[in-house]
Amino acid sequence: MKIVSALCGALLLSLSLAASADPIVIKFSHVVANNTPKGKASDFFAKRAAELTKGKVKVEVYPNSSLYKDKEEMEALQIGAVQMLAPSLAKFGPLGVKEIEVFDIPFIFDNYAELHKITQGPIGASLLAKLEPKGIKGLAFWDNGFKSFSANTPIRTPADLKGKKMRIQSSKVLEEEMRSVGAIPQVIAFSEVYQALSTGVVDGTENPISNFYTQKMNEVQKYLTLTNHGYLGYAVIVNKKFWDGLPADIRGQLEQAMKEATDYANKIAQEENDTALEEVKKSGKTTVYTPTKEERMAFKKAMAPVHIKMADRVGSDLLQSIYKETGTDPSKL
Ligand code: LMR
Repeated sequence: MKIVSALCGALLLSLSLAASADPIVIKFSHVVANNTPKGKASDFFAKRAAELTKGKVKVEVYPNSSLYKDKEEMEALQIGAVQMLAPSLAKFGPLGVKEIEVFDIPFIFDNYAELHKITQGPIGASLLAKLEPKGIKGLAFWDNGFKSFSANTPIRTPADLKGKKMRIQSSKVLEEEMRSVGAIPQVIAFSEVYQALSTGVVDGTENPISNFYTQKMNEVQKYLTLTNHGYLGYAVIVNKKFWDGLPADIRGQLEQAMKEATDYANKIAQEENDTALEEVKKSGKTTVYTPTKEERMAFKKAMAPVHIKMADRVGSDLLQSIYKETGTDPSKL
Protein backbone atom coordinates (compact mmCIF):
# COMPACT_ATOMS: atom_id res chain seq x y z
CA MET A 1 0.00 0.00 0.00
CA LYS A 2 2.82 2.32 0.98
CA ILE A 3 4.58 1.60 -2.33
CA VAL A 4 1.43 2.34 -4.33
CA SER A 5 0.84 5.66 -2.63
CA ALA A 6 4.52 6.60 -3.04
CA LEU A 7 4.27 5.77 -6.74
CA CYS A 8 1.08 7.82 -7.05
CA GLY A 9 2.77 10.71 -5.30
CA ALA A 10 5.74 10.54 -7.67
CA LEU A 11 3.42 10.40 -10.66
CA LEU A 12 1.43 13.40 -9.46
CA LEU A 13 4.65 15.31 -8.85
CA SER A 14 6.02 14.59 -12.29
CA LEU A 15 2.67 15.48 -13.88
CA SER A 16 2.49 18.76 -12.03
CA LEU A 17 6.14 19.49 -12.89
CA ALA A 18 5.44 18.80 -16.54
CA ALA A 19 2.38 21.04 -16.41
CA SER A 20 4.24 23.86 -14.75
CA ALA A 21 7.46 23.39 -16.76
CA ASP A 22 8.63 26.74 -18.01
CA PRO A 23 8.35 27.11 -21.76
CA ILE A 24 11.47 27.45 -23.86
CA VAL A 25 11.73 31.17 -24.61
CA ILE A 26 12.92 32.43 -27.97
CA LYS A 27 13.66 36.13 -27.98
CA PHE A 28 13.16 37.42 -31.52
CA SER A 29 14.44 40.95 -31.97
CA HIS A 30 13.93 43.09 -35.06
CA VAL A 31 14.13 46.73 -36.07
CA VAL A 32 10.97 47.43 -38.06
CA ALA A 33 7.39 48.28 -37.11
CA ASN A 34 4.76 45.60 -36.47
CA ASN A 35 2.76 46.48 -39.57
CA THR A 36 5.47 45.56 -42.08
CA PRO A 37 6.18 42.26 -43.85
CA LYS A 38 8.84 41.30 -41.28
CA GLY A 39 6.80 42.54 -38.31
CA LYS A 40 3.74 40.56 -39.35
CA ALA A 41 5.70 37.44 -40.27
CA SER A 42 7.54 37.35 -36.93
CA ASP A 43 4.22 37.66 -35.05
CA PHE A 44 2.80 34.90 -37.25
CA PHE A 45 5.80 32.69 -36.45
CA ALA A 46 5.35 33.32 -32.70
CA LYS A 47 1.70 32.29 -32.90
CA ARG A 48 2.33 29.13 -34.92
CA ALA A 49 5.31 28.16 -32.75
CA ALA A 50 3.07 28.31 -29.66
CA GLU A 51 0.33 26.32 -31.39
CA LEU A 52 2.52 23.63 -32.90
CA THR A 53 4.58 23.07 -29.75
CA LYS A 54 1.43 23.23 -27.59
CA GLY A 55 2.88 26.04 -25.54
CA LYS A 56 6.27 24.42 -24.98
CA VAL A 57 7.90 27.30 -26.87
CA LYS A 58 7.18 30.96 -26.28
CA VAL A 59 8.49 33.33 -28.93
CA GLU A 60 8.84 36.86 -27.56
CA VAL A 61 8.98 39.34 -30.42
CA TYR A 62 10.72 42.67 -29.76
CA PRO A 63 9.93 44.99 -32.72
CA ASN A 64 11.13 48.43 -33.78
CA SER A 65 14.65 48.24 -32.24
CA SER A 66 12.98 48.08 -28.79
CA LEU A 67 15.56 45.54 -27.59
CA TYR A 68 18.55 45.95 -29.89
CA LYS A 69 19.51 48.12 -32.85
CA ASP A 70 21.10 46.92 -36.09
CA LYS A 71 24.67 46.25 -35.04
CA GLU A 72 23.91 45.27 -31.46
CA GLU A 73 21.39 42.64 -32.47
CA MET A 74 23.97 40.62 -34.40
CA GLU A 75 26.30 40.67 -31.41
CA ALA A 76 23.42 39.77 -29.08
CA LEU A 77 22.59 36.75 -31.24
CA GLN A 78 26.15 35.50 -31.24
CA ILE A 79 26.47 35.68 -27.47
CA GLY A 80 23.02 34.16 -27.00
CA ALA A 81 21.31 37.22 -25.45
CA VAL A 82 18.63 36.74 -28.13
CA GLN A 83 17.95 33.55 -30.03
CA MET A 84 16.40 34.75 -33.30
CA LEU A 85 16.69 37.70 -35.68
CA ALA A 86 15.77 38.54 -39.25
CA PRO A 87 18.31 41.15 -40.36
CA SER A 88 18.23 42.59 -43.82
CA LEU A 89 20.57 40.83 -46.25
CA ALA A 90 22.52 44.11 -46.41
CA LYS A 91 23.70 43.65 -42.83
CA PHE A 92 25.87 40.53 -43.05
CA GLY A 93 29.04 42.14 -44.43
CA PRO A 94 30.32 43.32 -41.04
CA LEU A 95 29.97 39.72 -39.83
CA GLY A 96 32.39 38.69 -42.59
CA VAL A 97 29.83 37.02 -44.87
CA LYS A 98 30.35 39.38 -47.81
CA GLU A 99 28.70 37.09 -50.34
CA ILE A 100 25.24 37.90 -48.95
CA GLU A 101 25.75 41.49 -50.14
CA VAL A 102 25.11 40.11 -53.63
CA PHE A 103 21.41 40.81 -52.97
CA ASP A 104 22.26 44.54 -52.72
CA ILE A 105 23.61 44.80 -56.25
CA PRO A 106 21.34 47.29 -58.02
CA PHE A 107 18.97 45.89 -60.65
CA ILE A 108 20.16 42.32 -60.09
CA PHE A 109 16.54 41.14 -59.81
CA ASP A 110 13.71 42.58 -61.84
CA ASN A 111 10.94 41.04 -59.78
CA TYR A 112 10.14 38.60 -56.96
CA ALA A 113 9.98 35.64 -59.37
CA GLU A 114 13.63 36.11 -60.36
CA LEU A 115 14.64 36.63 -56.74
CA HIS A 116 12.85 33.49 -55.55
CA LYS A 117 14.91 31.39 -57.95
CA ILE A 118 17.79 32.29 -55.67
CA THR A 119 16.26 32.57 -52.21
CA GLN A 120 14.20 29.40 -52.59
CA GLY A 121 16.81 27.36 -54.43
CA PRO A 122 20.27 25.84 -53.86
CA ILE A 123 22.14 29.16 -54.18
CA GLY A 124 20.14 30.59 -51.27
CA ALA A 125 20.77 27.47 -49.20
CA SER A 126 24.52 27.67 -49.85
CA LEU A 127 24.54 31.33 -48.79
CA LEU A 128 22.80 30.51 -45.51
CA ALA A 129 25.30 27.72 -44.89
CA LYS A 130 28.10 30.32 -44.91
CA LEU A 131 26.76 31.61 -41.58
CA GLU A 132 27.45 28.40 -39.69
CA PRO A 133 31.13 29.04 -38.91
CA LYS A 134 29.93 32.26 -37.22
CA GLY A 135 27.78 30.27 -34.81
CA ILE A 136 24.62 31.20 -36.72
CA LYS A 137 22.10 29.00 -38.47
CA GLY A 138 20.10 30.46 -41.35
CA LEU A 139 16.54 29.17 -41.40
CA ALA A 140 14.81 31.04 -44.21
CA PHE A 141 14.66 34.06 -46.46
CA TRP A 142 11.75 36.46 -45.96
CA ASP A 143 10.81 39.07 -48.53
CA ASN A 144 10.31 42.73 -48.07
CA GLY A 145 10.53 44.39 -51.45
CA PHE A 146 12.18 46.68 -53.93
CA LYS A 147 13.70 49.97 -52.81
CA SER A 148 12.99 53.46 -54.04
CA PHE A 149 14.92 56.69 -53.60
CA SER A 150 13.64 59.62 -51.56
CA ALA A 151 14.95 63.13 -50.87
CA ASN A 152 13.76 66.68 -50.38
CA THR A 153 14.40 67.58 -54.01
CA PRO A 154 12.93 65.74 -57.02
CA ILE A 155 14.80 62.70 -58.31
CA ARG A 156 14.25 62.10 -62.02
CA THR A 157 17.75 61.30 -63.24
CA PRO A 158 20.87 59.77 -61.67
CA ALA A 159 22.38 63.28 -61.72
CA ASP A 160 19.72 64.38 -59.23
CA LEU A 161 21.48 62.27 -56.60
CA LYS A 162 24.89 63.83 -57.22
CA GLY A 163 26.39 65.32 -54.06
CA LYS A 164 23.45 64.16 -51.91
CA LYS A 165 24.19 62.56 -48.57
CA MET A 166 22.26 59.31 -48.69
CA ARG A 167 21.60 56.97 -45.77
CA ILE A 168 22.46 53.33 -46.46
CA GLN A 169 22.52 50.07 -44.53
CA SER A 170 25.93 48.65 -43.60
CA SER A 171 26.83 47.21 -47.01
CA LYS A 172 29.87 47.93 -49.17
CA VAL A 173 27.79 47.15 -52.24
CA LEU A 174 25.31 49.86 -51.28
CA GLU A 175 28.22 52.24 -50.71
CA GLU A 176 29.34 51.57 -54.27
CA GLU A 177 25.79 51.90 -55.58
CA MET A 178 25.54 55.43 -54.14
CA ARG A 179 29.02 56.36 -55.39
CA SER A 180 28.08 55.20 -58.89
CA VAL A 181 25.66 58.14 -59.12
CA GLY A 182 27.90 60.62 -57.30
CA ALA A 183 26.00 60.46 -54.00
CA ILE A 184 27.71 60.36 -50.61
CA PRO A 185 26.78 57.19 -48.70
CA GLN A 186 26.34 57.33 -44.92
CA VAL A 187 25.80 54.16 -42.90
CA ILE A 188 23.16 54.84 -40.24
CA ALA A 189 21.25 52.37 -38.04
CA PHE A 190 17.64 51.95 -39.09
CA SER A 191 16.39 53.27 -35.74
CA GLU A 192 18.16 56.60 -36.36
CA VAL A 193 17.05 57.24 -39.94
CA TYR A 194 13.98 59.37 -39.26
CA GLN A 195 16.00 61.65 -36.98
CA ALA A 196 18.90 61.83 -39.45
CA LEU A 197 16.52 62.86 -42.23
CA SER A 198 14.64 65.37 -40.12
CA THR A 199 17.78 67.11 -38.88
CA GLY A 200 19.49 67.09 -42.28
CA VAL A 201 22.34 64.78 -41.23
CA VAL A 202 21.47 63.08 -44.53
CA ASP A 203 19.48 64.38 -47.49
CA GLY A 204 17.81 61.21 -48.61
CA THR A 205 17.65 57.46 -48.47
CA GLU A 206 16.40 54.28 -50.17
CA ASN A 207 13.70 51.97 -48.83
CA PRO A 208 10.93 49.59 -49.67
CA ILE A 209 7.78 51.67 -49.17
CA SER A 210 6.57 49.68 -46.14
CA ASN A 211 9.68 50.77 -44.21
CA PHE A 212 9.46 54.32 -45.55
CA TYR A 213 5.86 54.73 -44.42
CA THR A 214 5.96 52.92 -41.07
CA GLN A 215 8.99 54.95 -39.95
CA LYS A 216 7.11 58.12 -40.94
CA MET A 217 9.77 59.13 -43.44
CA ASN A 218 6.99 60.67 -45.53
CA GLU A 219 6.94 63.43 -42.88
CA VAL A 220 10.54 64.36 -43.63
CA GLN A 221 11.04 63.51 -47.31
CA LYS A 222 9.25 65.61 -49.92
CA TYR A 223 9.97 63.42 -52.94
CA LEU A 224 9.83 59.68 -53.51
CA THR A 225 10.66 58.19 -56.91
CA LEU A 226 9.58 54.60 -57.49
CA THR A 227 12.87 53.41 -58.95
CA ASN A 228 12.63 49.84 -57.58
CA HIS A 229 16.36 49.74 -58.20
CA GLY A 230 17.38 47.16 -55.62
CA TYR A 231 16.02 44.46 -53.37
CA LEU A 232 15.67 44.42 -49.58
CA GLY A 233 14.81 41.17 -47.83
CA TYR A 234 15.81 39.16 -44.78
CA ALA A 235 17.57 36.06 -43.57
CA VAL A 236 15.89 34.57 -40.51
CA ILE A 237 18.72 33.40 -38.31
CA VAL A 238 19.15 31.65 -34.96
CA ASN A 239 21.96 31.06 -32.53
CA LYS A 240 23.23 27.70 -33.77
CA LYS A 241 24.13 26.28 -30.37
CA PHE A 242 20.66 27.08 -29.05
CA TRP A 243 18.97 25.60 -32.14
CA ASP A 244 21.04 22.41 -32.19
CA GLY A 245 20.39 21.97 -28.46
CA LEU A 246 16.60 21.90 -28.82
CA PRO A 247 14.81 18.56 -28.44
CA ALA A 248 14.41 17.12 -31.94
CA ASP A 249 10.58 17.05 -31.84
CA ILE A 250 10.41 20.71 -30.83
CA ARG A 251 12.95 21.70 -33.47
CA GLY A 252 10.81 19.92 -36.07
CA GLN A 253 7.69 21.80 -34.95
CA LEU A 254 9.56 25.09 -35.09
CA GLU A 255 10.82 24.25 -38.57
CA GLN A 256 7.21 23.74 -39.61
CA ALA A 257 6.19 27.07 -38.01
CA MET A 258 9.05 28.74 -39.87
CA LYS A 259 8.00 27.20 -43.16
CA GLU A 260 4.48 28.54 -42.71
CA ALA A 261 5.75 31.96 -41.62
CA THR A 262 7.99 32.11 -44.68
CA ASP A 263 5.10 31.35 -47.04
CA TYR A 264 3.07 33.99 -45.22
CA ALA A 265 5.86 36.63 -45.33
CA ASN A 266 6.43 36.11 -49.02
CA LYS A 267 2.72 36.23 -49.74
CA ILE A 268 2.05 39.51 -47.93
CA ALA A 269 5.24 41.43 -48.81
CA GLN A 270 3.99 42.98 -52.03
CA GLU A 271 0.55 43.75 -50.53
CA GLU A 272 2.13 45.48 -47.54
CA ASN A 273 4.26 47.64 -49.80
CA ASP A 274 1.28 48.47 -52.02
CA THR A 275 -0.81 49.47 -49.01
CA ALA A 276 2.02 51.60 -47.63
CA LEU A 277 2.34 53.36 -50.98
CA GLU A 278 -1.36 54.23 -50.91
CA GLU A 279 -0.91 55.61 -47.38
CA VAL A 280 2.08 57.72 -48.44
CA LYS A 281 0.05 59.15 -51.30
CA LYS A 282 -2.92 59.80 -49.00
CA SER A 283 -0.74 61.59 -46.46
CA GLY A 284 -0.10 64.25 -49.10
CA LYS A 285 3.30 65.02 -47.59
CA THR A 286 5.48 63.32 -50.17
CA THR A 287 5.19 63.69 -53.93
CA VAL A 288 5.39 60.21 -55.43
CA TYR A 289 6.83 59.96 -58.93
CA THR A 290 6.80 56.89 -61.18
CA PRO A 291 9.74 57.09 -63.59
CA THR A 292 9.22 56.30 -67.26
CA LYS A 293 10.86 53.19 -68.68
CA GLU A 294 13.63 55.36 -70.13
CA GLU A 295 14.20 57.20 -66.85
CA ARG A 296 14.47 53.91 -64.96
CA MET A 297 16.85 52.61 -67.61
CA ALA A 298 19.10 55.63 -67.03
CA PHE A 299 19.49 54.57 -63.36
CA LYS A 300 20.17 51.00 -64.45
CA LYS A 301 22.90 52.13 -66.86
CA ALA A 302 24.48 54.48 -64.32
CA MET A 303 24.61 51.70 -61.72
CA ALA A 304 25.75 48.90 -64.04
CA PRO A 305 29.45 49.35 -63.11
CA VAL A 306 28.57 48.26 -59.55
CA HIS A 307 28.14 44.71 -60.88
CA ILE A 308 31.73 44.73 -62.12
CA LYS A 309 33.29 46.65 -59.24
CA MET A 310 31.69 44.44 -56.60
CA ALA A 311 32.22 41.10 -58.36
CA ASP A 312 35.33 40.35 -56.33
CA ARG A 313 33.65 41.25 -53.07
CA VAL A 314 30.57 39.06 -53.53
CA GLY A 315 32.31 36.44 -55.68
CA SER A 316 32.29 36.36 -59.49
CA ASP A 317 31.17 32.74 -59.61
CA LEU A 318 28.21 33.53 -57.40
CA LEU A 319 27.29 36.52 -59.55
CA GLN A 320 27.52 34.44 -62.73
CA SER A 321 25.41 31.67 -61.23
CA ILE A 322 22.73 34.22 -60.31
CA TYR A 323 22.76 35.68 -63.84
CA LYS A 324 22.33 32.15 -65.15
CA GLU A 325 19.31 31.49 -62.94
CA THR A 326 17.61 34.82 -63.62
CA GLY A 327 18.49 34.96 -67.30
CA THR A 328 20.33 38.27 -66.95
CA ASP A 329 22.74 39.06 -69.74
CA PRO A 330 25.56 40.91 -68.01
CA SER A 331 26.84 42.35 -71.28
CA LYS A 332 23.51 44.18 -71.63
CA LEU A 333 23.61 45.80 -68.22
C1 LMR B 1 17.15 49.16 -43.06
O1 LMR B 1 18.03 49.31 -42.22
O2 LMR B 1 16.81 50.04 -43.85
C2 LMR B 1 16.40 47.85 -43.12
O3 LMR B 1 17.33 46.83 -43.03
C3 LMR B 1 15.41 47.72 -42.00
C4 LMR B 1 14.72 46.39 -42.08
O4 LMR B 1 15.00 45.54 -41.25
O5 LMR B 1 13.90 46.25 -42.99
